[in-house]
Amino acid sequence: MNAPSQVTLVEVGPRDGLQNEAQPVSTAQKIELIELLLAAGCREIEATSFVSPKWVPQMADNAAVMAGIPRRAGVRYSVLTPNMKGLEAALASRPDEVVVFGAATEAFSQRNINCSIAESIERFRPVVQAAHASGVKVRAAISCALGCPYQGEVSADEVEHVARLLRDIGVDHCGVADTIGVGTPARVEAAMERALRHFPIEEVSGHFHDTYGQALANIHACLGMGIHVFDTSIAGLGGCPYAKGATGNVATEDVVFMLHGMGIATGLDLDQLVDAGAAISRVLGRPPVSRAGRALLTRRESLRQAA
Ligand code: HMG
Ligand code: MG
Repeated sequence: MNAPSQVTLVEVGPRDGLQNEAQPVSTAQKIELIELLLAAGCREIEATSFVSPKWVPQMADNAAVMAGIPRRAGVRYSVLTPNMKGLEAALASRPDEVVVFGAATEAFSQRNINCSIAESIERFRPVVQAAHASGVKVRAAISCALGCPYQGEVSADEVEHVARLLRDIGVDHCGVADTIGVGTPARVEAAMERALRHFPIEEVSGHFHDTYGQALANIHACLGMGIHVFDTSIAGLGGCPYAKGATGNVATEDVVFMLHGMGIATGLDLDQLVDAGAAISRVLGRPPVSRAGRALLTRRESLRQAA
């Protein structure tokens, strides 16, 4: 397999993870999580969302989170901006990158952002222009690229249709998202291949929720295609409030364990990621979803007892 020697992981736990938590997580706890992620070497962090607080109250402290996190050279913070109102609020918080999020299906577009696919593109167009005018890169996510909680099956044609529209309005990067975690490797390869028709390989990434336990296999399939950017979430946090039953993103710790085992560099320190995952899991009052995280915590505990 001709896998890349280096992979970039975009840590989405503070956004995708915490947007879906029923219990309150304070602004200070969110900032502390981001500090732990920085200590573990994360350089790409999706910090929060500038969406309607009526729709996603968990992200209502977006400006306070952005004001409280340390800014360092080489660290890129991204935030979700579904429309101009979100972008204007976001720009005041000095993000390095903004994320517009569309969907491969009309049904999910309506449920998640309250408009059709075509309307979403018209909302994103000025967002892309204004972000670029401010020197801010624009990433896009295509939700439900492998399956939709409302429509069911999703074809590669539907993914390509949205990828083309996003490219036409000038977004810089295309994230192919398996919102409900139903994708399997061959179907993921087909969806990725369609995104690659419109974006260069360094600007295509995978975002895999792990509901059906397929995410590592899907990342492995993408590596075989040369894709080398993936979204992952510390402790396996995550989900979308508008995709009920879908579990978290693939855990950062699990992906790092696999990549380092394959000799692929990430720039991340697995032990410190485990600390970050354990810390946010303590806040949430449950063990990390990450299998590698749990195994390494158990190993640490048995070494401590043996000492
Ligand atoms: P809408 O109701 O159609 O918007 O919502 P509107 O323009 O008609 O405005 C209605 C109200 O919302 C107004 O306030 C606006 O000011 C306000 P009111 O007059 O009623 O007091 N408003 C906003 N407030 C703050 N920030 C904004 C904003 N925009 C309007 N940006 C909207 C449209 C997109 C805002 C809404 O549907 C929304 O916020 N949806 C949130 C969706 C979301 O955050 N989903 C989760 C993230 S996506 C995800 O997780 C998927 C991903 O991980 C990839 C994957 O896994 O698939 C990325
Ligand atoms: Mg997601």
